[in-house]
Amino acid sequence: MKFNSALVAALAAAFFAASLHAQAAERPLPRLVKDHGRFALLVDDAPFLVLAAQVRNSSAWPSVFPRLWPTLGYMNVNTVETPVYWNQFEPQPGRYDYTLIDMLLSEARRHNVHLVPLWFATWKNGSQHYMPDWMKLAPDLYSHAIDSAGQAVDSPSPFATASLEADKGAFAALMRHLKEADPQRTVIMVQVENEPGNWNSVRDFSPAAQKSFEAPVPPEVLAAMRVKAAPQSPNWQEAFGPDADEYFNAWSVAKYVGQVAAAGKAEYPIPMYANAALRDPINPGAPGQPGAAGNYESGGPTDNVLDIWKAAAPALDFLAPDNYQTDPAAYLRILELYHRADNPLYLPETGRPFNARFFFSVLGHQAIGFSPSGGNTEGEFKPTEVSKAREDFLNPWAMNYRLIGPMQREIARLNFEGKLQAVAEEQGKVTQTLPFGSWNAVVSYGTTGRAPAVGNPTPMGRALVAQLNDNQFLVTGYYCRVDFRPAGTEQQRKTQHIVEGTGQTPSALIGGRWQHRQFLRVEEGAYESGEFKFLRIWNGDETDWGLRFGEDPVVLRVSLATY
Ligand code: DGJ
Repeated sequence: MKFNSALVAALAAAFFAASLHAQAAERPLPRLVKDHGRFALLVDDAPFLVLAAQVRNSSAWPSVFPRLWPTLGYMNVNTVETPVYWNQFEPQPGRYDYTLIDMLLSEARRHNVHLVPLWFATWKNGSQHYMPDWMKLAPDLYSHAIDSAGQAVDSPSPFATASLEADKGAFAALMRHLKEADPQRTVIMVQVENEPGNWNSVRDFSPAAQKSFEAPVPPEVLAAMRVKAAPQSPNWQEAFGPDADEYFNAWSVAKYVGQVAAAGKAEYPIPMYANAALRDPINPGAPGQPGAAGNYESGGPTDNVLDIWKAAAPALDFLAPDNYQTDPAAYLRILELYHRADNPLYLPETGRPFNARFFFSVLGHQAIGFSPSGGNTEGEFKPTEVSKAREDFLNPWAMNYRLIGPMQREIARLNFEGKLQAVAEEQGKVTQTLPFGSWNAVVSYGTTGRAPAVGNPTPMGRALVAQLNDNQFLVTGYYCRVDFRPAGTEQQRKTQHIVEGTGQTPSALIGGRWQHRQFLRVEEGAYESGEFKFLRIWNGDETDWGLRFGEDPVVLRVSLATY
């Protein structure tokens, strides 16, 4: 028998790959947990804070991704959000192409980061542009939504059962493949669809949709929206009046996305979420009315229909806002609306460098993660070497991760334990007080120590304070000053008016006695694989007027006492 070296080499390589695969020990599944009303994403069975960036997403396959690492490296990310495109994944019905997802997995492992695949399928920004050609060429079967004038619009029908079955099949195949190909758990969460909903019509008016619209509202929706069902079960119009069309569309789209998620979870039950194109939370416009002022996407998980989405898509672990609000009040309102007892906060997309400071506000809402996005046009996270110009664009985001990255596990754990507070500067608010029981942490902006706080020239301050024990705190931030004021016991705070001193050293009149803050020990340090590594002591000029943070990443462990 002729000795076929190539065959032996191939067999050896296959055997080696198989053993490598077998060697890649099964790590615990990433999962979402809740305790005392707080959520944590567990990766390797410990709280993990997703510090992500979303790559330019229009069509980054197959070659763009590897060239993104200079930018992603500069961003200090520990996770990358990147799309998997249905039309690339299933070029022929039932024939699945794993080359992109496998490339993403190996690239992510090569750079020691996690992945959040974005399943661009039935919906991408309200339209079906990533559906495979064989579906686009059969619009009667894989039908579009119909508007109130009877016209097909550039949005898929949530009542197209053939599309639903196809999407469930493809997504299940993707999750099945991940289960086999990713024992390392490189993938920690999956986004199902992208900004599902309809920009061009408030709902689908197709015959199938109309029949369902005229039917009684499902009891779980009535319950979720706290609508009395008696005497007879109302239909959508009767139950919701002027909101009926939008609420019906939210239910229709959510049921569809929920079924796709359930099909994927049946194969591989890791955390899944849906992202929302937002409406203005303060002055909402009109849903699905192209050209109307404030037109927003109808049917997606916008703040006014989260209860419907929760009822209609239980397979989704959470609903997440793509927060591009330019008005700070609206940006912060969104965080409040999506951080719910039944919904952890995660920002899969955010943008505009002047919003970068709000990463700290997001941490203040016990968020499980954050991801500036290359989606918007502002220069994107392009595959280029990081030039000076790019550093200026990327730095507002990169500096957050530079500081928090090395201690993200601690931050995630302290947040899960409810011991952490974090804030960002708001125009006109020169100080913010964070209550920690017998201590109040006082954050002030735009002060050089002696001078009263006047705010930074532009609001860019941010601070994080976490309680390590009764009188010890982890303190960090940028462009701010942090100090601590005695706050008395719970009983004292309840029963007496505590007068705050105005002297250089924060003090308070408690129980008829002035108590003054004393820094027992202020240690600058850094976290290395979970341990606080001591670097040096702060004292004298560095502590006489509180603890000041500039543009350099500094972490302090502060021990307090009173006199
Ligand atoms: C939000 C979408 O989710 C992204 O994919 C991208 O299209 C951005 N909008 C563009 O601003």
